[in-house]
Amino acid sequence: MSGRTNAVPFDSKEYWEDRFAQEEPFDWLLTWDSIQLFLQPYLSSKEHILHLGCGNSLLALQMADCGYKNIVNVDYSANVIEKMKELTNKAKQSSIEALGGSTTVTPYSDLVWITADCIHDLSSVRPYGSAPGGCYPLVIEKSLTDCIACGDDDKLTRQRQLAQQVASVQPPGGYFISISFSKERQSFYPYHLTEKIPVLVPQVNDKPGAPEIYYYLYILQKKEDDGEGYLV
Ligand SMILES: C[S@@+](CC[C@H](N)C(=O)[O-])C[C@H]1O[C@@H](n2cnc3c(N)ncnc32)[C@H](O)[C@@H]1O
Repeated sequence: MSGRTNAVPFDSKEYWEDRFAQEEPFDWLLTWDSIQLFLQPYLSSKEHILHLGCGNSLLALQMADCGYKNIVNVDYSANVIEKMKELTNKAKQSSIEALGGSTTVTPYSDLVWITADCIHDLSSVRPYGSAPGGCYPLVIEKSLTDCIACGDDDKLTRQRQLAQQVASVQPPGGYFISISFSKERQSFYPYHLTEKIPVLVPQVNDKPGAPEIYYYLYILQKKEDDGEGYLV
């Protein structure tokens, strides 16, 4: 899912909205189970996590099951955000029933779902009640950058815009975790590439000797201020 001549228009909002009108929850690339061990060193159950291009992935609900409650989920497809709100409400209801109705607090109570374009208006997306800028020590995306790359130009303008937008909501030192098909990734300003983790994808019915397939976890870190107004 890269380059500018895709048969499938992954960079088109209409494409995603049409798809989400019919599709059941689905996770691209990797599921929470297959990545949680790699991500745990970067995650905090107390701080707000921003999840970009969430689609109808179960990632946030499964993370909430594991104690990561403050997750703000963003997608530009309004219909998928509505569907995910409904799914979250059902999960809350089942959880309350399972506890015999004795509480209204569930693992999903603090999940937030917001419609926004990640390369144009992320600065408006912040946890309720918090000040603008620097409020997400951790941002995660799974295959959003792959989509953004689809409509990109030779200067990689869209990927640079995404990095700038993400930077506008992260403090210096904050981590941006990007999960991707792509085995190559530039780190766009103002981020350093800290780590690249290949994750082997199990293939069902593979013939002996078939090539191994990997997806990649890119751990990027926002540059720190050197005290003289420069990010290093
Ligand atoms: C390949 S899907 C991945 C969905 C989900 N993260 C997963 O792993 O299953 C890409 C998602 O990014 C969303 N998307 C693409 N461009 C976007 C943009 N500029 N702003 C917000 N969401 C975007 C699409 O609507 C879609 O939900």
